[in-house]
Amino acid sequence: MTERTSIHGQWSSRLAFILAATGSAVGLGNIWKFPYIAGENGGGAFVLVYLLCVFFIGIPIMMAEVLIGRRGRQSPINTMRALAHEEHQHGIWQLIGWAGMVAGLLIISFYSVIAGWAVAYVFRTASGAFTGVTADGAASIFGGLVSDPERLLAWHTMFMAMTVVVVSRGVRSGLEKMVTVLMPILFLLLLLLVGYAMNSGKFMEGLEFLFAPDFSAITAGGILTAMGHAFFTLSLGMGAIMVYGSYLPKNVSITKVVVVVAIMDTVVALLAGMAIFPLVFANGLEPGAGPGLIFKTLPLAFGHMAGGTLFGTLFFILLTFAAWTSSISLIEPAVAWLVENRGIDRAKASTAVGGVAWLLGIVTIMSFNSWAFEFTFAGEAKSSGLFDVLDILTANIMLPLGGLAMAIFAGWYMSERSTMDELNLGDGLIYRGWRFLVRFIAPLAVVIVFLQLLGVIKV
Ligand code: PFF
Repeated sequence: MTERTSIHGQWSSRLAFILAATGSAVGLGNIWKFPYIAGENGGGAFVLVYLLCVFFIGIPIMMAEVLIGRRGRQSPINTMRALAHEEHQHGIWQLIGWAGMVAGLLIISFYSVIAGWAVAYVFRTASGAFTGVTADGAASIFGGLVSDPERLLAWHTMFMAMTVVVVSRGVRSGLEKMVTVLMPILFLLLLLLVGYAMNSGKFMEGLEFLFAPDFSAITAGGILTAMGHAFFTLSLGMGAIMVYGSYLPKNVSITKVVVVVAIMDTVVALLAGMAIFPLVFANGLEPGAGPGLIFKTLPLAFGHMAGGTLFGTLFFILLTFAAWTSSISLIEPAVAWLVENRGIDRAKASTAVGGVAWLLGIVTIMSFNSWAFEFTFAGEAKSSGLFDVLDILTANIMLPLGGLAMAIFAGWYMSERSTMDELNLGDGLIYRGWRFLVRFIAPLAVVIVFLQLLGVIKV
């Protein structure tokens, strides 16, 4: 095979890819979503299922997704078409690319609204609004924000514009450098917050909640949520990692970069949990408070620690950046496809995709106020109407199915020669282990979780 190159350019180094992929993986999923869904699903047992999914399903599928991307070197739709052709398989495999593009659009539509909350909190915190705040005060400030569609729309618009600007310029320029500096600072701030939580008086209770598994606290829906979150947090199953893989230089070891990215992502999520739950218990709050959890708890820390206004402002700025480096990867597959197939330039393509996602975002905005409704999904109580529907549909259904299809394609439909050549591990234990995981373990696990959700089997 002659070596393909991507028309969209290449990462400058192995580190650049690690940073970009970590930028995509680490985002609202780690700091906003993980704590609140762990809280809603009773903690420990949920966290354990999530960790197992990251290591036994997430890592092998991420390797599959990167290797498919690097071999195809195009947008996910065209990559899947090219590889299916090359491996003498049916063209239907390009559906993975199409479904992923739709999932990306749906996710960015709500992701941008939540990122808008983070932007709003930069200004809220900087203004000193949280100094000495009580738990009730923090909750009512959050309530005031989400009950006002106009303010939500303004912040959502701003965040979507930020995303479109970076994607227009190409994911490489500027982004690489931004992530290098910001990720380490975010990490340090999280450590600072964990340090604060250690002195909250309820640190052990927080740790116990997160790490002591109580299997009676988890439902079928909770297990699905944990697995879906493994996909969401690692940006898997929709082509984001595939398109980033398509810009990866040929000589880089996929296994190493994937393991590094997965570990960093997991550490950030666990740190966020360790910072938040002690505060939840110390202030008599509800772990299952839902999507507002971090916005109701972290201001309590910032409002009472020395230098809290400064640290708090910095924290929400970094959360915004973390969300930003993720949001660009959500629209990159669609933008790359438009550039390849419609011949339009990146700026127009990003604006078009961003525009559609911006409009869709209104659904999420209204879910937290006028259109809110409650429902129960597989034993889990939900109270944010269509936002929850979008979240379940994408993170819990579309991403795992996309990931399942990628695992099956790489494990069963690509020749051993192709995957071995791309992973470059020789025919040793690691390659065999990977192949076993993508052929059997990951697909079976996803199928079992779906079957138990549908009530076909009981585990
Ligand atoms: N991984 C991101 C997060 O945890 O915030 C969200 C995400 C980005 C999901 C890109 C999916 C994706 F393709």
